[in-house]
Amino acid sequence: MTKENSLCDIGFIGLGVMGKNLTLNLADNGYKIACFDLDQSKIDAIIQQDNEERGDQPARVVACRSYTELLNKLSTPRLIILSVPAGEPVDHVSRHLIDAGIGADDIVVDTGNSLWTDSLEREARYKGKFIFFSTAVSGGEVGARFGPSLMPSGDPYAWTRIEPVWKAVAAKVDPQTGKPIESFTPGKPVKEGEPCATYIGPVGAGHYVKMVHNGIEYADMQLICEAYQIMRDGLAMEPAEIAATFRAWNQGLLNSYLIEISAEVLEMQDAETGKALVDVILDRAGQKGTGLWTAVGALQVGSPAQTITQAVFARSISSLKKERVAASQILSGPERSSLNDADKQAAIEALHDALYCSKICAYAQGFQLMDMASKEQGWKLDFAGIAKIWRAGCIIRASFLQSITEAYEQNESLTNLLLAPYFAEQITKYQGNWRRAIANATLMGIPCGGFSSALNYYDSYRSETLPANLLQGQRDYFGAHTYERTDKPEGKKFHVEWSVPGRPQVAIKR
Ligand code: 6PG
Repeated sequence: MTKENSLCDIGFIGLGVMGKNLTLNLADNGYKIACFDLDQSKIDAIIQQDNEERGDQPARVVACRSYTELLNKLSTPRLIILSVPAGEPVDHVSRHLIDAGIGADDIVVDTGNSLWTDSLEREARYKGKFIFFSTAVSGGEVGARFGPSLMPSGDPYAWTRIEPVWKAVAAKVDPQTGKPIESFTPGKPVKEGEPCATYIGPVGAGHYVKMVHNGIEYADMQLICEAYQIMRDGLAMEPAEIAATFRAWNQGLLNSYLIEISAEVLEMQDAETGKALVDVILDRAGQKGTGLWTAVGALQVGSPAQTITQAVFARSISSLKKERVAASQILSGPERSSLNDADKQAAIEALHDALYCSKICAYAQGFQLMDMASKEQGWKLDFAGIAKIWRAGCIIRASFLQSITEAYEQNESLTNLLLAPYFAEQITKYQGNWRRAIANATLMGIPCGGFSSALNYYDSYRSETLPANLLQGQRDYFGAHTYERTDKPEGKKFHVEWSVPGRPQVAIKR
């Protein structure tokens, strides 16, 4: 039997932008794919693209008209990948696959931006019907097509089956330099290098790690936006000049995909008005929810991820556009004075350092959150491994991730990234400018909640004492909530019968 007539290696359901590109990436890596989507036009589109890209090779993608046909076209035990919207659609497809006769040994991999607890529930729900496995994907449409970062988790047996597939399609990193090895040519996938796909742990762990990736992504983006606003409004710089500044920053410590695309966004002209496009884009941020989930997750485990949470709030306040416009007519801020060239240069340098130090804190918060969740869930996350697979393919890819990888490789039980000798030194070196940039923005009345929440995190984390002693006193005063003492063993609780002159004494029966 020729390969053309043989059964397919993988089934793929959901041919939206991410699904189509991931399917073509699998095809480039030699897998024959049976594909299905409820929307026939999406099936037609991928078949057409495969025809255009495969040259005189046999068809790599086979169209199916139903779930049953898809199951019949696959070798067993089957491997089926889903790229459908998170939430109910994953269960909708799962139910149809059960009705169509999927087997207990078949594997279904969810690659959507699913909530990690949904993945946990699904593994239990579909036990005995099929093996539910999850893989979180980062990298947007280009990543899906030419190499994403993949965060797989679930049944270890299923992983043995999926591992070679994910390692083939994932982004690759040069092991010597830690830098991405990229190819954006259809049919010519990168074969060499370290794949950005590693087994994260039991089901749920992969989507949790991706959720935190997105929380860090929110913080990273917000910090860049704050640097932009200070340059635009405080230093009166034009978008092109800010783009040039970002391009210069991209050559050094801040080298990252997000800095690179920010420069490109700032350079884009609006075809209609001829203005910089950024000046006509409405300043109201959207969000699909993963940043919010991270913030909620941080609050739930009690992890102080204030820069990530602040980035979500920054999107919320941006969305109150009408209220802000009205308030701008009523509420006043400080007068802004113009700067001479030397002061402007110094302010730009301070912003660079503020962005760098804040970024270190945002990542420290993300890794601290994963550490606390890992302990709570018993996942035993490998942080060097996670930093490694974020070095290429994903949205937060940056040279900086190599330094994080090294920090965790040097000390796998590192309590906080800030304590790694390299990062402790970096912050010591750059914190003067970080503080100056925040002070300048504050004096100019320009919001910089990302920068200042990060500095707050740093200053709180390095403080031997915080005012929580007074807070405990307050709690004990009004609610008899008790407190611990500095001179007595930890865990021993004390309470005082507060009797304050002038305060009405109310008898309370306990
Ligand atoms: C990725 C991104 C992606 C993200 C979208 C939208 O890693 O590829 O994180 O998964 O969900 O870019 O995010 P928001 O709409 O919430 O900004």
